[in-house]
Amino acid sequence: MPTPTAPVKPEAMDLSRPVKRDELSQGERWTRALTITVDGPAGSGKSTIARLLAESLGFNYVETGATYRALGWLALERGIPLDDGARLRGLAIAQPTVLGYEADRWVVRIAGVDVTDAIREPRIDDAASKVASHDGVRDVLVARQRQLSLDRDSVLDGRDCGTVVRPDADLKVFITADLEERARRRAGQQDELGTEQTTNVAAALAERDARDAKQSGAANDAVIVDTTNMGIDEGVQLALRTWLERRRELLDGERTQGRTAREWIDNEAGLANFDKTLKRTRPIWEKGFRLKAVGTERVPDGPCLFIANHASMWDPAFLITPLNRVIRYMGKAELAENRYVKNMADAIGFFPVRRGAGDRVALHIGEEVLRRGDSLGVFPEGTRVYEGRLARPRQGAARLALVTGVPIVPVAIYGNRWSESLFRVTVAFGRPHSFEGQRATPDNIRRATTEVWADVQELWDALRADRAF
Ligand code: DC
Repeated sequence: MPTPTAPVKPEAMDLSRPVKRDELSQGERWTRALTITVDGPAGSGKSTIARLLAESLGFNYVETGATYRALGWLALERGIPLDDGARLRGLAIAQPTVLGYEADRWVVRIAGVDVTDAIREPRIDDAASKVASHDGVRDVLVARQRQLSLDRDSVLDGRDCGTVVRPDADLKVFITADLEERARRRAGQQDELGTEQTTNVAAALAERDARDAKQSGAANDAVIVDTTNMGIDEGVQLALRTWLERRRELLDGERTQGRTAREWIDNEAGLANFDKTLKRTRPIWEKGFRLKAVGTERVPDGPCLFIANHASMWDPAFLITPLNRVIRYMGKAELAENRYVKNMADAIGFFPVRRGAGDRVALHIGEEVLRRGDSLGVFPEGTRVYEGRLARPRQGAARLALVTGVPIVPVAIYGNRWSESLFRVTVAFGRPHSFEGQRATPDNIRRATTEVWADVQELWDALRADRAF
C-alpha cells in the first residue's frame, strides 16, 4: 500500500514553479478529492456541460479558460503587450485569478476586479488565446488551476486539463463538435448574426483552434463525446452517467474494515436481519426508553434523508422504531468493534466513516445508498452534543439531498441526553423539504442546510418546552 503523503496546502504552493506529479497523489485514492476533467475546443459545449456537471454533483467548478481570459483582460487594461511572455508571466504570478460562486452567481476576479462579464467580450477571445501561447505563462496558470482543484471534488474545464493540469484525474471527458456547428453556436452567443458573420466566426474559430492546437488534445484515456447532433442536456446526462459508472468502479476498488465499499453499500447479509432485530429490540426502546414519536404521518413513503440532532448512540433506533423501516447510517468505524453493537449496526445497514480521512468516502457511499433507493439518516453536528443548544450543522447532508433529489425530513430527538431525563425519549418528525431540480451550488447547499436545521432546532425547542413542567 502506498504511504499517504501529506496533503498540499494550497497557500503553501509556489505559483512560479510547476507542481510535481507526486504532489498530486495524496495517499489513497479516496482520501483525496476526486477530479473530473472536461476538455475540448471553443463552441463544443464543453464549458456549459462541465459547469452543469459540477452543479449536478455538488463538485467545485474550475473554469481554467477564465484564468487565461482574466490575464488577457488585465494585460490589455495595463497596456502590457500580448507578445511579452516575461512580463505576462510576472503579472500572472502577482495576480492570481479567483473563481467561485457569490450569491448564486459565477464570478471571476483578478486584481480585485469582477471581470465575469468583461472577459466574455470577443476581444478577450483573442487576447486569452495569445496569452495562452507563452509556456512561461502556462506554467504559472496551470499551477493556479491545480491549486483551485486539489482540496475539493472538482470538475475542471479547459483544453489541457486531462493531459497537463490533472493527468491523475478520475475521469477525463473530451467534448468535440464539427467546426461549422461550433461556429453556429458561437454566433448564436454573440447575438443573432447573419450567415455572413457566421462564416467570419468560423474563420476566427479556426484561427483560434490552430493557435490553441498545441495544448488541445484528448488524453489517451479520455471518453470522447461528440455534441454535433446533441443538445446540451443530452451531453450533461451522458457525462453524468459516465461519471456514476466510473465512481462505481472506484468504489469497487475501495476497502474499509475488511469490506469493499460496494459491500457496505448493499450489505445484504446485514439487512436480512433487519425485521428480526427490530422486533427483538423494540421493547428496549418502547418500554426501556419510553420512546414516543410525533409527526410520523408527515414522512413520505419513498427514500428520505433524515437529518437529526445527535446525543445518544441509540439515536438511530429512536428514528427507525416508530417508522418501522430501514434507515441507513454512517458512523464512527469504532462502533463496529463491539460485537453486539456491530450486529445491530449491520442489521440497519450502517457504514463506517474513516477518521482522519475526512467524510469523503462515507459521503460517496451515502450518495450511492440514496441512489439505490434506501433512506439515510445523518447527524450533521458531526459528533454527539450534550449541552445547551444544538451545534452548527455541517453541509454534507444537504449536498446529498441536492445531488440526489431525495427529500430531507428534519427530526428532533429529545430525552436522549442524561441531562434531559434519559429513559423518556420523544422523536419529532418535521415537514419534508424537497430540493428536487435545484442545482448543488455552494449557495444552495448552504441555504438548504440553514433551512432544514432551523426546523430541527424549532422541533427540539418545542419538545423541550413540552418537558419543562
Ligand atoms: O475555453 P475558453 O474559450 O474560455 O479559453 C480561452 C483561451 O484560453 C483559449 O483560446 C485557449 C486558452 N486555454 C488554454 O490554453 N488552456 C486551457 N486549459 C483553457 C483555455
